[in-house]
Amino acid sequence: MRFSLESSSGTVPSPLPSPVHANGHARKCGPSRVLLVDDEPDVLRGLHNMLVHAGYSVTCATEVNEGVDLLHRATFDLVLTDLYLGDRDLGFPIAEAARARKPRIPVILLTGRPSFDRAQEALASQVSAIVVKPVESQVLIDTCERVIQETELTRRNRELEVANRVMTSVLPRTIEIKDPTTSGHAARVVDYTDNLASRCGVGEEQRASLRMAALLHDIGKIGVPDHILTKPGPLTVDEMEVVKRHPRMGYEVLAELEDHQDVRDWVYHHHERWDGKGYPQGLAGEEVALPGRILVLAEVYDALAEERSYKPAWPVEKIVAFFRDQAGRQFDPDVAHLVADGLERMGKRFFVSKSDMLF
Ligand SMILES: [Fe+2]
Repeated sequence: MRFSLESSSGTVPSPLPSPVHANGHARKCGPSRVLLVDDEPDVLRGLHNMLVHAGYSVTCATEVNEGVDLLHRATFDLVLTDLYLGDRDLGFPIAEAARARKPRIPVILLTGRPSFDRAQEALASQVSAIVVKPVESQVLIDTCERVIQETELTRRNRELEVANRVMTSVLPRTIEIKDPTTSGHAARVVDYTDNLASRCGVGEEQRASLRMAALLHDIGKIGVPDHILTKPGPLTVDEMEVVKRHPRMGYEVLAELEDHQDVRDWVYHHHERWDGKGYPQGLAGEEVALPGRILVLAEVYDALAEERSYKPAWPVEKIVAFFRDQAGRQFDPDVAHLVADGLERMGKRFFVSKSDMLF
């Protein structure tokens, strides 16, 4: 049987004032849409009036099939369903249909006969809340509000997780596919940079940004043609000029990171040198901030310590000698000597040990 209440348009005379959005639950493009399922006309009418008064757009159904059909055909933000429909506990098929929707629709179960077993079953079937009838208007609305907000929060968190995976996994992988010679490079540079930053006293907030910069430092390579990136022999002067554009390209690619200007800067500076002979800007000394100078060194360390197609992995002694030689030239002298000292003392374990184990 189709009940006469179809929407919040007011087909049923309401003893309450006209709908308001007092609970602040209105969606950006309209009020939250609720599917209300109950086989008792008087109860349905009362619940409908409560929800409409609070500003919800309400669609009503009195039977299981009708409720399931509406769930397949229309979009809802919330389902309120009686547990017992026609004297049988048929609220679960409604809940199941709501959960099957993508994205899933949260369900509040209404029941006049609460029992521990039923509550257990409801929780096991991931119903968001159980409301015992008769229910006060404010309790019902507060519950609806809470469930809708929690669902929205969960949805946003999932979106953030996906965005985070794109940032931390997909983008670095993209660079490695472009330049297979650097497999695992970004992940190692993150570890080395963070380790070194910790030893240099860089605060946690800056270190978080620095880890992001280290992960994405070569993202601008997506703008360098493959035949240059993968060229086995030495690059021509013109090809080298193209490669030298990648820090700037990385800076541009990350333009949307408006709240992380430091990340963009450190990506931009990762081929600068202490003596000002680096690229692309030729910045010198402390014109590159300490985290950026640390990234420069960690990036070079990985290039030296790992085998590449054009060279074997350097032994620690050779790396130490290089850092000592380049202290004050390519690298910040304090950071370069700190690393050289650490490598002399601990070998390559220096970069995988916590700073408090060293000093
Ligand atoms: Fe680079």
